[in-house]
Amino acid sequence: MNSILDRIRSRQARVGIIGLGYVGLPLAVEFAHAGFDVTGFDVDEGKTSQINAGKSYIPDVAEARLAECVGAGKLRATTDMTQLAAMDAVDICVPTPLRKTKDPDLSYVVRAVEAVAASLKAGQLIILESTTYPGTTDEVVQPMLEAGGLRADADFFLAFSPERVDPGNQQFTTKNIPKIVGGVGPASNDAAAALYSQVVSTVVPVSSTRVAEMVKLLENTFRAVNIGLVNEIAQMCHKLDIDVWEVIDAAKTKPFGFMPFYPGPGLGGHCIPIDPFYLSWKARQSGFECRFIELAGHVNGAMPEYVVERVVDALNDSRKAVNGSRIHIFGVAYKRDVNDMRESPALDIIELLIRRGAAISYSDPYVPVLKEGAHTLEAVPEAEALQRRPDCVVLCTDHSSFDWKALVSSGVPIVDTRNALRTFSAPNIVRLSGRVGAPVPTPV
Ligand SMILES: NC(=O)c1ccc[n+]([C@@H]2O[C@H](COP(=O)([O-])OP(=O)(O)OC[C@H]3O[C@@H](n4cnc5c(N)ncnc54)[C@H](O)[C@@H]3O)[C@@H](O)[C@H]2O)c1
Repeated sequence: MNSILDRIRSRQARVGIIGLGYVGLPLAVEFAHAGFDVTGFDVDEGKTSQINAGKSYIPDVAEARLAECVGAGKLRATTDMTQLAAMDAVDICVPTPLRKTKDPDLSYVVRAVEAVAASLKAGQLIILESTTYPGTTDEVVQPMLEAGGLRADADFFLAFSPERVDPGNQQFTTKNIPKIVGGVGPASNDAAAALYSQVVSTVVPVSSTRVAEMVKLLENTFRAVNIGLVNEIAQMCHKLDIDVWEVIDAAKTKPFGFMPFYPGPGLGGHCIPIDPFYLSWKARQSGFECRFIELAGHVNGAMPEYVVERVVDALNDSRKAVNGSRIHIFGVAYKRDVNDMRESPALDIIELLIRRGAAISYSDPYVPVLKEGAHTLEAVPEAEALQRRPDCVVLCTDHSSFDWKALVSSGVPIVDTRNALRTFSAPNIVRLSGRVGAPVPTPV
């Protein structure tokens, strides 16, 4: 035990990160920047060779910082899993998607743990970071690692520490987001807390891996349910002819007991649309139905259809049908200023519009090429797209580089799913909810 703690505290510990995506790469750079000797492991050779060439493919990871770590010999990447044997600590950051049936797909975790188990040594610290259901670390990972005869919390150390990074968030990053740590026992807890305290400002130890796993799922379920609620309120406000964003802005002036969530075209990314179903799946194994999760999933999952209804309204005003219309999408990434397309609601909206006979084009500075089903589209610069006078624009993602003034003054009907055009009042703006171009009174 002392040996791993000493190696961590003196920053001599060799750190391995398995899975160099949105979570793993920022973490690897953080450890390397703090002086640790870091090896990144990934099955994708394209990613490992970009890292070794000092190139960043994650917008949140500054290329200069990455190149500095690689140049200083503190960070390298490989597809060779046998090198895991040389690591003192290993962080597993591989994907945890859902199967088509909405059941957890732990196959990436299992493959990564198999690689770790193949060369597990006494004294190693293994941490799972991938979001997963409570029980994964002690029911799935621990038996796989102990199969070779070493005992967790005695011979080696095992913990779960959820990643809470929010891609694109400039204020909160890997370094200053408090890190939850739960070990399979006290020694594992201490080792994992010692490791993270070298690179993150606050470590929050909890009593078990299950609590740590549950914390992450509570956080993301809280978001999914509240977004579901506000999406339903947005649809209700539309019927009542009330501007839902004005309501939220006023409600959030209450200094306690209210937290603003905003409606939109639907959930996206690798977390909020997926993680709550890990929890409901696990609860179902114990005969418990998570009604809030199912309901929020239902409301949020129906938002792309609701957006298409708004498009139908917008076209109807110009006596047009969706069938045969040229519809241009502004922003296809799942949220502002990121290039992540996973579960993006824009994909569903595009699919629904194509099925109704629309011809689709799009602009997105972060996504040069888009594959949706059988269709492959190339991004069109926004000015060129507006010159072509589409029948309707659907604003799906509010990237900060978009020129809203040019969009509004083009006169093309715009369905604004993000309230990005809140400061404009023009007849060509169709809001997701509420009156068209409702003027907002100036505060007295
Ligand atoms: N993206 C986010 O915002 C975010 C935030 C918090 C938590 N998480 C969680 O973190 C985990 C990772 O998410 P991500 O967004 O970084 O995923 P990602 O797809 O961006 O990266 C995962 C990486 O793992 C690699 N990989 C897959 N199987 C592997 C294996 N067997 N061995 C080595 N490498 C392998 C992939 O090639 C990929 O590069 C998920 O559980 C996710 O839910 C993600």
